[in-house]
Amino acid sequence: MSITRYLQSLKRSGSVRNIPNISEENATFLQQIIRGHARTHILEIGTANGYSTLQLANSFWDIEQMPDITTIEFVWNMHLEAIHHFETCGAKKITAIHGDASAVIPKLCDGYFDFCFIDARKSKYLDYLLDVLPKLADDAIICFDDVVKFRSKMENLYTFLDTKKIPYHIEMTDPDDGLMILEKRNLPRE
Ligand SMILES: C[S@@+](CC[C@H](N)C(=O)[O-])C[C@H]1O[C@@H](n2cnc3c(N)ncnc32)[C@H](O)[C@@H]1O
Repeated sequence: MSITRYLQSLKRSGSVRNIPNISEENATFLQQIIRGHARTHILEIGTANGYSTLQLANSFWDIEQMPDITTIEFVWNMHLEAIHHFETCGAKKITAIHGDASAVIPKLCDGYFDFCFIDARKSKYLDYLLDVLPKLADDAIICFDDVVKFRSKMENLYTFLDTKKIPYHIEMTDPDDGLMILEKRNLPRE
């Protein structure tokens, strides 16, 4: 089965089971950033069944060009299911880590990731951001999902960005929700 067909089937299966996978529109937008900025080391927080991870990998579905992806999930069954999909698809450049992001992130390599996709607990978005900053390369791009629909759950993130005058962009690719895009170089070094 082609990766496109596999992703369509995984999205349908996620929808039936109420797994909040990213929309196809948002996946396409993330792929455009990854391709356009030649991202090679990706960190994802919130794997679920691995749908978004495979979409990120599908930015370049070629073993030479595919970015290395590290993805974190704390629900054991979701983590196992995601590994099954990665293996079935032969996505060898994905490393799936089981654990709470707040415990896993500090153990990751400093300055390593050039793209970070954050899609776990909405009320923790600011915590994830502050935790991942040391792990990101200077030119890293950070994207958050669901920043409009669930804004009330992440007011501390908006307050932090507004108070520190950190520029961000919200892309409404998906009529249902938006992606927030930040650049590490615009964040304070502390
Ligand atoms: C919105 S879903 C992720 C959907 C996935 N990114 C996709 O689009 O296919 C959020 C996932 O984050 C996981 N999660 C929430 N908080 C977490 C944490 N602190 N550490 C690791 N995983 C977490 C949840 O178990 C859930 O599977």
